[in-house]
Amino acid sequence: MSKPKVLFVCLGNICRSPTAEAVFRHKASAAGLDVYIDSAGTGGWHQGDAPDSRAIKAGSQRGYSFAGQSARAVEPEDYRDFDHILAMDRRNLSDLKAETPAEYANKIKLFLSYGQSSESEVPDPYYGGGQGFEQVLDLIEDACEGLIKSLQQTA
Ligand code: 4NP
Repeated sequence: MSKPKVLFVCLGNICRSPTAEAVFRHKASAAGLDVYIDSAGTGGWHQGDAPDSRAIKAGSQRGYSFAGQSARAVEPEDYRDFDHILAMDRRNLSDLKAETPAEYANKIKLFLSYGQSSESEVPDPYYGGGQGFEQVLDLIEDACEGLIKSLQQTA
């Protein structure tokens, strides 16, 4: 099978999905998993922006790199090109499902469906304090482990 392609999606592509991209890059590489990874936002307001400085600060403290990331919006081709399109919250999920051609709808899931915690959504940390970014990291790290196991089983 060709290498799987994973797209992480949030609203602005500056906080949650760039964090998921950074964490998953690190963990997939450590697991020896050959995977193509990207992230995008359902909204395009921050197109071209670097990830939020609070996300970079919190993630860097745990050893993750955000190098080379800049925000982009989800594009129509993404539904065709990616194998797994993982939404951070239910609003992202419903926005994606509203846009995707029906034949690709089964690629779209809540990212935390791969996690062990009882949370089903990664809460938007944009308007909150620094602790929100720590919770985002905790949830994302957990779901990345499950995603790696799932991809290893289907590889
Ligand atoms: P994200 O957070 O979806 O995790 O990147 C947000 C970033 C920006 C905005 C909302 C959420 N905003 O409204 O600009």
